Amino acid sequence: MKTLILAGGKGTRLWPLSRELMPKQFVRFLDDRSLFQKTVERALKFSKPDEIFVVTNKKYKFRVLDDLHELGLELPEGNILLEPRGRNTLPAIYWGIRRIEDAFGDSVVAVLPSDHLIDAGEAYEKAFKNAERLARDHLVTFGIKPTRPHTGYGYIKPGEALREGDALLGYRVAEFKEKPDLETAKRYVEEGYYWNSGMFMLDTEVFLEEVARHAPDVLRAFEEENIEKAYELAPDISIDYGVMEKTDKAAVVPLNVYWNDLGSFDAIYEVLEKDENGNAVRIGGKRAYHIGINSRNNLIMAERLTATVGVEDLIVIDTDDALLIAHRGEGQRVKEVYKRLKERN
Ligand code: GDD
Ligand code: MG
Repeated sequence: MKTLILAGGKGTRLWPLSRELMPKQFVRFLDDRSLFQKTVERALKFSKPDEIFVVTNKKYKFRVLDDLHELGLELPEGNILLEPRGRNTLPAIYWGIRRIEDAFGDSVVAVLPSDHLIDAGEAYEKAFKNAERLARDHLVTFGIKPTRPHTGYGYIKPGEALREGDALLGYRVAEFKEKPDLETAKRYVEEGYYWNSGMFMLDTEVFLEEVARHAPDVLRAFEEENIEKAYELAPDISIDYGVMEKTDKAAVVPLNVYWNDLGSFDAIYEVLEKDENGNAVRIGGKRAYHIGINSRNNLIMAERLTATVGVEDLIVIDTDDALLIAHRGEGQRVKEVYKRLKERN
C-alpha cells in the first residue's frame, strides 16, 4: 500500500497558534510531535519510506523536510510535491495519485490528511486492511460514529453490506453529503449516518476514471505539463464535493477508534488534560506557569506566566505577537479573525 499525505491546508481556526507560515499540521500543540509527524508515523505502518508521498504548498517545503528529518526519515525528492497555490484537496490528490501511478503503476493508495488526532491501534489496522480489499472496485472512505451534528464534516449513509466470504468489509455508500446545514446534520445523526474521517483508500485506476467522469476540468488542467500553469487552470475544489458526492462507486469502512479533527480550540480543550478546576493549561517557556484564582474550565495556552481571576469557559491563546481571547464554544468563529486580518493586509 502506498500513502499520500495531504499537508497543504491553512488551519485558520487555530489562529494565532496556526499561522500563514506555520499551519496547524506543523504546530506542536499537544506534545513534541506535530500532527504531520504523527501522520507520517501512521503511514509507516503500511508503506516503506519510498512509498510515502506528500503534497503540500511550496511555502511549507522546509517545514516538511525539517519534520521528516526530525523523525530520521528521508523521502526521495520526487515524493514531495510542492503546490504553487492551494486549490483544495482534489487537485492535490489528483496530482499525487498520478505521480504514484507513474512511479509504481496501478496501486492502492491510502490518502491521509495531516490535521487529525487518531488512535491507530488494532482496529485502525484492521479497517485499513478491509479498505485495501474494497479499493479494487470502490473509492473507500472511513466512517466515524458521530457524537453531535457537526456541520464541518462530510456525512455518509451506509447502504448494502460488502462482504468477502463471511467477512464484512464495509458498506456501499448510499449517500455522501459534504458539510450539510445544522438541521440536515441533526437528521443524519438520528438516521445513523457516519462522519467522513477525511481519509480515503483509492486505487489509482478507479480514482482516475472517476475524476475523468465527475471532474473533467481537473483532468484538463493537469494535461498542462507545467505545474504553475496546471494550478492556474485547476478548479478550487475538494475531493468531497468534486468526486465523493457524485460517484456511485463509494464504499465506507466503519472506523471505531478515537478520532478528533482538532479543528478548533474547543476540540483542543477536549483532548488536553485538565486540572482539578477543569482548566486545560499548556504553558511553554522556562519558569512560566499558570495561577488560577476562582477560574474554571478555561483553555490557556501561553508562553509566559499567566494568571486568571474569576473567569470561566475562556479560551486564552497568547503568543509572541498576538493574543486571542474567546469564549469556549465560539472556537469555530476564530477563522473570521483570520479573514479580517487577510482583508487588512
Ligand atoms: N496539499 C494540499 N493542498 N493539502 C490541502 C489543501 C490544499 O490546497 N487544502 C487542504 N489540505 C489538507 C489539509 O491540510 C488537511 O490535512 C486535509 O487536506 C483536509 O483539508 P481540510 O481543509 O482540513 O478539510 P475539512 O476538514 O474541511 O473537510 C474534510 O475533512 C473532514 C474530516 O476532518 C472532508 O474530507 C470532510 O468530509 C471530513 O468530514
Ligand atoms: Mg480538516
